[in-house]
Amino acid sequence: MSKWQDEGVGGWDTWFTFASSRPVQVLSRLVGGSIEADVHDVCITGSITENLHKLLEAFYLKYACDTRYNVLVTALDFPTDAYAAQALIKRHPNRGGKVHAVQSEDGNTLDPEDIIKAITDPDAAICVALLPTVLFKSGQLLPIARIAECAREHNVALIIDAAHSVGCVPHDFDRWGVAAATWCCYKYLNGGPGCPAGLFIHREHLPLDNPFKGWFGVQDEEQFKMSHTYKPASGVFAFQTGTPPILSLAPLCAVLENVFAEVDILDIRAASLALNGLFMDLCESRVCNNSQQLFRLITPRRDQDRGGHVALAVGPDSSRALLLSKVLRNEKRIIVDYRPPDVLRFCFTALYNTRAEVEETVRVLQEICGWSETDFQARKSRVQSTLVV
Ligand SMILES: Cc1ncc(COP(=O)(O)O)c(C=O)c1O
Repeated sequence: MSKWQDEGVGGWDTWFTFASSRPVQVLSRLVGGSIEADVHDVCITGSITENLHKLLEAFYLKYACDTRYNVLVTALDFPTDAYAAQALIKRHPNRGGKVHAVQSEDGNTLDPEDIIKAITDPDAAICVALLPTVLFKSGQLLPIARIAECAREHNVALIIDAAHSVGCVPHDFDRWGVAAATWCCYKYLNGGPGCPAGLFIHREHLPLDNPFKGWFGVQDEEQFKMSHTYKPASGVFAFQTGTPPILSLAPLCAVLENVFAEVDILDIRAASLALNGLFMDLCESRVCNNSQQLFRLITPRRDQDRGGHVALAVGPDSSRALLLSKVLRNEKRIIVDYRPPDVLRFCFTALYNTRAEVEETVRVLQEICGWSETDFQARKSRVQSTLVV
């Protein structure tokens, strides 16, 4: 803030390069960007939504053809992914394409075989597939390496939304052959609310034309020439558009340089699996076997099938899920996340949660399992005024 006050416009000289070099190297290592010195395949820019619009457009222009013109998503995607895919198809009416959504049998998880089937089926005519690494509600982790290999074999561009895995699960986007990926940095990367997203484009697709161009996507030495001739920056940096939020970039750069540069993502993953695995074990033995059947685990049990959070579905009266999310936060100081209609997400984070906190959370859930109708009613009237979805 003092730089802003003291240096005014002069501060831009340092802020222009804020999100380059060291923080980007750390981020690149976390997602499995290429280590080749002359390749710039990772950058920090925009939001996931903004980046998805750019990536979908760029890869649709490259991959759509007379025999393949549909876009694959899943029925369990975060809504913004579906909106971006729908908008893409709407922008290209002459292609006659559709958004094809892989369905879920249980409403919580996907069968990877259904995704593979859609990619390989010539009648599905998929040219671009947009998939999450981890499903935002149930926490299921998809086998992206396997799907990417299949997508490459069938000339389908695979774009990944890695919002729920970067900073928690190891990635190897370059080796897997993922065409492109984007992720937010405000979840496991601890960048703080509103900090910009990450973007990866596989080096085999670079240079790639950014369909939504802006002055931040040009070469550094061109930016202040104010020329109307667009000269794209190298690699993924051409996918920057406008001024990044400097105040939000600061904590992200700090956390990348001071935390993620120092820890091994494999250690983070091991600690995360252990904490969340303990939570699942204890829930199974002490909470989900309760005769009331208030809580049901919906996150896949095997380590290779889950990301960094655990989801419990609340039943049989699903309206209790929202109520319990408020009670857990306000009364018990346990921060959970509610997702309609009936899901509570618990995330024990490797960097700062403890086994004692897992055990305390399970104890509280056990206590709630013993509540009577009167106990629920009392809480309902107490939190009524703050019940906003
Ligand atoms: C899986 C997933 N995709 C996309 C988004 C939206 O991200 P953004 O607000 O950066 O566009 C979120 C936000 O939480 C998310 O969880």
